[in-house]
Amino acid sequence: MTATQVIGAEGDAIERAARVLADGGLVAFPTETVYGLGADATNGAAVARLYEAKGRPSFNPLIAHVTDAAAARGLAHFDSAAERLAATFWPGPLTLVLPKVQDCPVADLATAGLDTIAVRVPSHAVAHGLIEALGRPLVAPSANRSGHVSPTTAQHVLADLGGRIALILDGGPAPMGVESTIVACLDRPVLLRPGALPRPAIERVVPLAEAPVLAEQAEADALPLAPGQLASHYATRALLRLDAHNVRAGEALLAFGAAAVTGAQLAAFSLNLSPRGDLIEAAANLFSHLRALDASGATTIAVMPIPDEGLGEAINDRLERAAAPRG
Ligand code: TXA
Ligand code: MG
Repeated sequence: MTATQVIGAEGDAIERAARVLADGGLVAFPTETVYGLGADATNGAAVARLYEAKGRPSFNPLIAHVTDAAAARGLAHFDSAAERLAATFWPGPLTLVLPKVQDCPVADLATAGLDTIAVRVPSHAVAHGLIEALGRPLVAPSANRSGHVSPTTAQHVLADLGGRIALILDGGPAPMGVESTIVACLDRPVLLRPGALPRPAIERVVPLAEAPVLAEQAEADALPLAPGQLASHYATRALLRLDAHNVRAGEALLAFGAAAVTGAQLAAFSLNLSPRGDLIEAAANLFSHLRALDASGATTIAVMPIPDEGLGEAINDRLERAAAPRG
């Protein structure tokens, strides 16, 4: 248990909150839509702790919150539709899903290993001030436990996440009360989630193609959808062999913990998610290790068993999705 402090978002509160974030802690804060649960987007372990606090059974990708469009361009590629939308609606309740730039500083875990990233520039003064004080992008899902409704007051956040996060910045009720509208600009603009910015307003700027909508109720199970792709969740080229207690010649090995594995010397290449068996460290390393093992050229990656508790549940969920047969 962490003692959760609720403080008014005035005076030096924002500086204090930024220090908690810089140290890898979690801070809930108001935005114009709903309260968000923030973590330093560039710190994989902080992002892992955020998933743990939310109690998400899977790693749903997160929105990176930045101070302005220039900062967003450091994370994502903008096509002309995205540029028009950003110029018209930022700062404000619009999230854009865009191709991630190479060397994007946001932790792989925050985008669940995807090649796309959701970015948003909130208009709320407290949110803006917090991102500015941290000096880095802030990932922030709605500040509720997974499966619960989004919080619009500091008291809602406390009821849901009290004891699980360090700090709640109380800036009064979130003015809009519904989440941001999400539009993907990957080839053509597609509405992924209806939200606080109404569709007709968007359609006055760019035409919107029809697409499956991310139902917020089904959020934990929702796969991020991109036009022309069935499920764009991270998949390896190599096959994954889960729950492996041994390594076969030529396989790459994704290890976990200190336990020895039979035939480890046969592995063409191996990486350990967390030699000390820490699930937070393992989550932070998951997608980058999978990518590196995949890039080694091995046709199969043997994955040692990972305990199905705490964040292990989400790690196993992602591994199972990546291992599922694809057509
Ligand atoms: O108003 C909001 O957007 C609030 C405030 C705190 O900013 N945040 C919020 O975040 O609603 P969250 O994590 O509760 O919802 C983000 C949604 C999820 O459904 C996630 O799947 C989707 O955005 N998403 C994030 N990255 C994505 C991506 N690369 N592709 C498709 N969907 C993505
Ligand atoms: Mg949410």
